[in-house]
Amino acid sequence: MRKWIVAGNWKMHNTIGESVALARAIKEGLSGPTNGEVVVAPPFTALAAVGDTLKGSAVALAAQNMYCEDKGAFTGEISPVMLKDAGCAYVILGHSERRKYFSETDQSVNAKVKKALAAGLKPIVCVGETDEERVQGVTQSVVDRQVRGALAGIEKLDDVVIAYEPVWAIGTGKVATSAQAEEVHAFIRDLIGELYGSLSKGIRILYGGSVTKDNIAELAAMEDIDGALVGGASLKPDGFLGIVAKMT
Ligand code: PGA
Repeated sequence: MRKWIVAGNWKMHNTIGESVALARAIKEGLSGPTNGEVVVAPPFTALAAVGDTLKGSAVALAAQNMYCEDKGAFTGEISPVMLKDAGCAYVILGHSERRKYFSETDQSVNAKVKKALAAGLKPIVCVGETDEERVQGVTQSVVDRQVRGALAGIEKLDDVVIAYEPVWAIGTGKVATSAQAEEVHAFIRDLIGELYGSLSKGIRILYGGSVTKDNIAELAAMEDIDGALVGGASLKPDGFLGIVAKMT
């Protein structure tokens, strides 16, 4: 039985004070033990403060990105060691916004995944096709390339989470239907089966793209959907807790 994950990606939102308040409301709003994991990913400046707020709670901390070196002359970058120090258990890698605006490639994502695992961070690796690619009918080949690329040279999958996020569904309110999402999730699980054998049964594959408390139940009911990576709806306690409540 795979443990579900609901992860909130706060993107470039919230000051330290706002982040702490949101984290506190989420922590206090959670009811009892569940069969899943709740994760929040504040911006870098708020990680340490949110990490302190969440200490001893059931909510895990994630970063939204990192660099693939432990330390050194890399002005403006943040290392996995620093993320661990701030209390992170997870790190989101290869988000489509990073690929689009910051030129991340399958190769750079792969270097980061390797480094995250070596540092004891669990990567949430994002993949997904653009609108144009879906129309062209190349969704599977795009996702195939991204998954193979991100996981190249990685032997142990225990700590890896994949997030399928169709780019056309991110921040658009245009959620994939549960059937559309499941089709790609099953494809990813089959691909991982091809690469890693029975380990594919244990890997968690999250859906992301316009997830809300009103559409999560249908998505999460699908065989190969193990939770959600949530952007917009994770910025308000009610929206986020409403999603978590549907998973329990
Ligand atoms: P969204 O973002 O929920 O606002 O569509 C999801 C994401 O980018 O992870």
